[in-house]
Amino acid sequence: MCKIGRFSWIFVIYILHTGRWQNFFVDSATKITNIYCTSLDKNYSDFQRCRLLVPRRNEISMDIHVRAYQLPVNNISINLSLWHKTNSFQPFLYNQTYDYCKFMRNPTRMPFVKIFFDAIKKTSNINHTCPYNHDLIVKGFVMNDGMFRLLPLPGGTYMFKLRVATLNAWRAEVGVQFLLDLKSK
Ligand SMILES: *[C@@H]1O[C@H](CO)[C@@H](O)[C@H](O)[C@H]1NC(C)=O
Ligand SMILES: *[C@@H]1O[C@H](CO)[C@@H](O)[C@H](O)[C@H]1NC(C)=O
Ligand SMILES: *[C@@H]1O[C@H](CO)[C@@H](O)[C@H](O)[C@H]1NC(C)=O
Ligand SMILES: *[C@@H]1O[C@H](CO)[C@@H](O)[C@H](O)[C@H]1NC(C)=O
Ligand SMILES: *[C@@H]1O[C@H](CO)[C@@H](O)[C@H](O)[C@H]1NC(C)=O
Repeated sequence: MCKIGRFSWIFVIYILHTGRWQNFFVDSATKITNIYCTSLDKNYSDFQRCRLLVPRRNEISMDIHVRAYQLPVNNISINLSLWHKTNSFQPFLYNQTYDYCKFMRNPTRMPFVKIFFDAIKKTSNINHTCPYNHDLIVKGFVMNDGMFRLLPLPGGTYMFKLRVATLNAWRAEVGVQFLLDLKSK
């Protein structure tokens, strides 16, 4: 987090708190370059699918299918962190654990998770409040540039790491690596 300097930090905090992202426009092109999915308790849930596809030239889409074996789920924590690659991935900017069911009841209160969630909800079956009593499916998710219009990040390789816990036990982890190219547009 030292990489982006103090001004950017204040700037990020400012836009996250005011929600005025539409005022700031950063030209960017983003592309998912790699993903991994790890079940941390296979009796609880497992990944039936975790893959990237190339539906058309210059477009990468992501499919994830989580099979859930112990339903319904009513107590979910998510821990979202953002990593930036220099030589290896270093923690960058975000690293927080949230009560997911609480977030779903009132998404606007957690702006950073909301950016992430808004991006994924159109291509998944997760857009509803708890409880969850079905598998989780993301199909054809394409990371779009709009997401990073909101965050003034420097170009480079990043990774979102999402960890999911239910009843205080970590169950699964998903990592999404992506390239943020500020100049190609
Ligand atoms: C999963 O279930 C199997 C069979 O019931 C059991 O032997 C194993 O210990 C369980 N694993 C975990 C991580 O709870
Ligand atoms: C997140 O924060 C916790 C404690 O605040 C720390 O132990 C952990 O290493 C951090 N992880 C990342 C990716 O920043
Ligand atoms: C997020 O999860 C990591 C494990 O991946 C943990 O080390 C860290 O403490 C968590 N961060 C917070 C702020 O709870
Ligand atoms: C998500 O759910 C909310 C509330 O049910 C609904 O208003 C919204 O249109 C849904 N969004 C998507 C992308 O399905
Ligand atoms: C979720 O479950 C854990 C472990 O049983 C409990 O400590 C925690 O208070 C629960 N959270 C909510 C929001 O109910």
